[in-house]
Amino acid sequence: MTADAAPSNPVASTQQRYTAVAIALHWAIALMIIGLIAIGWIMDGMKPGPDQFAIIQLHKSFGITVLLLSVARIAWRLMNPPPAEPPMPKWQSLASKAVHILFYILIIAMPLTGWIMASASADAPTRYFNLVDIRLPGIPTLDADTRHGLEEGFEQVHSNLAWVIVGLLVLHVAGALKHHFIDKDGLIARMAPGLFGRTAGPPDDGQGAVWAFGAAALVFAAVAGLSFTTATPVATDDAPASEDVAHSNAPVWAVDYGKSKLGFRFIYMGTPYDGTFPEWSAQIQLDTDADSNEHIPADGYVRVAIPVGKLSTGEQYFDDSLGQGDWFDVAKYPEAVFEVKGGIYKLDERNYEATGVLRIKGADTPVRLPFTLDIAGTTATMHGEVTLRRLDLGVGAATTTEPAGDAEWVGNDVTVVIDIVATRQ
Ligand code: HEM
Ligand code: HEM
Repeated sequence: MTADAAPSNPVASTQQRYTAVAIALHWAIALMIIGLIAIGWIMDGMKPGPDQFAIIQLHKSFGITVLLLSVARIAWRLMNPPPAEPPMPKWQSLASKAVHILFYILIIAMPLTGWIMASASADAPTRYFNLVDIRLPGIPTLDADTRHGLEEGFEQVHSNLAWVIVGLLVLHVAGALKHHFIDKDGLIARMAPGLFGRTAGPPDDGQGAVWAFGAAALVFAAVAGLSFTTATPVATDDAPASEDVAHSNAPVWAVDYGKSKLGFRFIYMGTPYDGTFPEWSAQIQLDTDADSNEHIPADGYVRVAIPVGKLSTGEQYFDDSLGQGDWFDVAKYPEAVFEVKGGIYKLDERNYEATGVLRIKGADTPVRLPFTLDIAGTTATMHGEVTLRRLDLGVGAATTTEPAGDAEWVGNDVTVVIDIVATRQ
């Protein structure tokens, strides 16, 4: 800035400035919007994956913050008229008013379009600074096609509106600089007291802060509350058999969960990843003394219940995404269940095969699980692996299974790895 800036300018000090609340909101919102556009463009060029995910989450949280502050700002503006503008030609006054009105529309429309897009997305949840789920109520429950359409459409609008903001910003800043350097009327100081010259204080501090910020807080609380209630797990009426019923007369085996592990392996963008289900419960009965016979099952029964929402891959990005509707839809189907229906066959002293049904997202799929069993005294150590095709199970249908440009992909084959140590009761 030049030394002849406003301080000594008598015109400037007769200018009245905006209220402190208006000034604080103007700059908080302006800085965030400029940052959000820059980050938006950066993340657009990033490869999908955990890093991009983390940045998008931050983008969404700051974007929602802009929305909340904008609600407060507009309410404040309605209750507190701005100071009279400095003398200027009519067209300039009209042009600046037009830019301001468009800005007021955009600081609401921009985050709103992003929010609709994010709420329609099946990829990841939208949590406000990782605290509360704030997807717009109603949208996550729409059918997949509608959501996909909404996501694509609003992504377009969101991306184009960014350019409109940039265009307006150029006009807005050019106007401010013209006032400062050419008209020397101290206009910038009205919005930045002290920095660009002195101004007269506002007639009072303004009023209605409680209403303005209260309105913003209410909007937020309503959305967070509603999105929380709509995400509450829905009980499935066709719940699988109860755990307490005895299904066999064979000996019961009690699982030592500390020594047992239920894991899975999958390929994400060419890299193998391991995951575990840290919480599960198994009910196991098996007559291990039966004669080997690959045609007649041994006496036995197995039922494993897995709360899928608890899965862990060591990568927050996967854990969050896998709970979503397109993947395990844990809000609706909190549990996956494997239950032996066709019997457990003892092929030889060590090799067995369980035939049963895997229920994922309410749909049953027949599964053959080959496993080995090593018995020492009353302790049995079991190891089994089965490879499932996730698309056949309706898991992650919208995500491709092979590389296609820059898009994320997750291999179709997912291997479930089961290691159980159990003692005979
Ligand atoms: C995306 C960012 C920005 C947005 C959305 C924005 C929005 C607005 C709006 C809506 C007003 C009108 C206030 C009212 O009278 O109701 C305003 C005023 C103002 N803005 Fe910005 N602004 C942004 C960035 C900037 C920047 C970077 C500057 C720096 C020069 C600036 C300088 C000003 C000044 C000096 C005023 C007061 C104009 C007057 O006294 O009439 N703004 N801004
Ligand atoms: C004033 C606030 C905001 C601004 C200025 C802004 C700006 C941007 C920009 C410039 C992009 C890049 C667009 C492109 O790819 O060309 C972007 C992308 C994105 N924004 Fe925002 N955004 C805002 C608020 C939000 C909010 C509130 C959300 C969600 C709650 C959101 C979600 C997203 C998402 C998910 C993308 C990535 C789209 C994709 O490439 O898949 N944004 N944003």
